[in-house]
Amino acid sequence: MKTMKAVCIYSYGGPGVLVYENAPSPHPGPGEVLVRVHAAAINPVDWKIREGHLKEMLHHTLPLILGWDVSGVVESLGTGVVRLKVGDEVYSRPDIARDGAYAEFIVIREAEVALKPKSIDHIHAAALPLAGLTAWQTLFDAAGLAAGQRVLIHGAAGGVGNCAVQLAKWKGAHVIGTASARNHDFLRKLGVDQVVDYNAVRFEDVVEPVDVVLDTIGGDIQQRSWGVLKPGGILVSIAGPPSAETAAARGVRQAFVFTQPNAAQLAEIAGLADAEKLKAIVETILPLSDATRGQEVSERGHTRGKIVLRVV
Ligand SMILES: NC(=O)c1ccc[n+]([C@@H]2O[C@H](COP(=O)([O-])OP(=O)(O)OC[C@H]3O[C@@H](n4cnc5c(N)ncnc54)[C@H](OP(=O)(O)O)[C@@H]3O)[C@@H](O)[C@H]2O)c1
Repeated sequence: MKTMKAVCIYSYGGPGVLVYENAPSPHPGPGEVLVRVHAAAINPVDWKIREGHLKEMLHHTLPLILGWDVSGVVESLGTGVVRLKVGDEVYSRPDIARDGAYAEFIVIREAEVALKPKSIDHIHAAALPLAGLTAWQTLFDAAGLAAGQRVLIHGAAGGVGNCAVQLAKWKGAHVIGTASARNHDFLRKLGVDQVVDYNAVRFEDVVEPVDVVLDTIGGDIQQRSWGVLKPGGILVSIAGPPSAETAAARGVRQAFVFTQPNAAQLAEIAGLADAEKLKAIVETILPLSDATRGQEVSERGHTRGKIVLRVV
């Protein structure tokens, strides 16, 4: 049996359940490609799955390889693959219900894979799929953000937040972002029009009404966000479903987005990266064998951009 290095879990729990080991190398089935992983980004969903928070929803079988943000090279093709060829440099946010990319190889459905941005390396390309798709699907698909609209982005310096800031600016929106003080210069350089220090002020006291709120935090932040929406505005959350009753009572709209793989949107995101409209922000690079440390840092909740595992 061919094996590969991978980071797996055999049970749910704290960082200590992560195991760096030799795992069976996968084979692509019909409509799938085998990708040699060069880099895999760490996302909060990785440690949420590790802790078992999503087990009722995703029904994984263990052992499970974590990590659903990848950049690499197509190694071989399953039958029926037409769009990709061996040697293509690709990136993906693969199906979260299957094995992930903390590994030397991953099998991905062709429909979930796009050519990576040509102008950036694999480390930076791996930082874009999950956060880029999340920003795209919240701001454009769910909220229909248009030029001239005002958008409040909570957690603007994080993985999702910084992509949302950049995509909203590209669309021509007026962008307000919340972050702790250490991230303010960074956010201004990304183009944020108004930066709010959530530790120093209540955002609802200083933000004029907005058309769109992107909630990446949930809880109290989500509850307080209703009050900053214009009539007919929309609260889009990726942290927890906003109340439909509250939205109706306030004359606003709400949506919860669970990000979906989408190769066509990834191709657009790659185009924006190559056109220097979207910068991949990588805070930390670690070897695959250090996935545990990467997850521990992610779990503290103050990552700027992404933490990326180097595999090749
Ligand atoms: N539903 C979905 O499909 C989906 C998709 C992607 C992500 N998510 C979820 O969305 C959340 C954010 O993901 P991410 O990848 O962007 O996380 P991340 O990279 O870890 O970023 C978190 C950011 O939140 C900021 N922050 C922490 N507390 C805050 C507060 N009270 N107010 C404002 N900002 C605060 C931190 O900035 P400071 O250092 O400035 O505090 C940090 O930059 C996670 O819970 C993740 O699981 C859901």
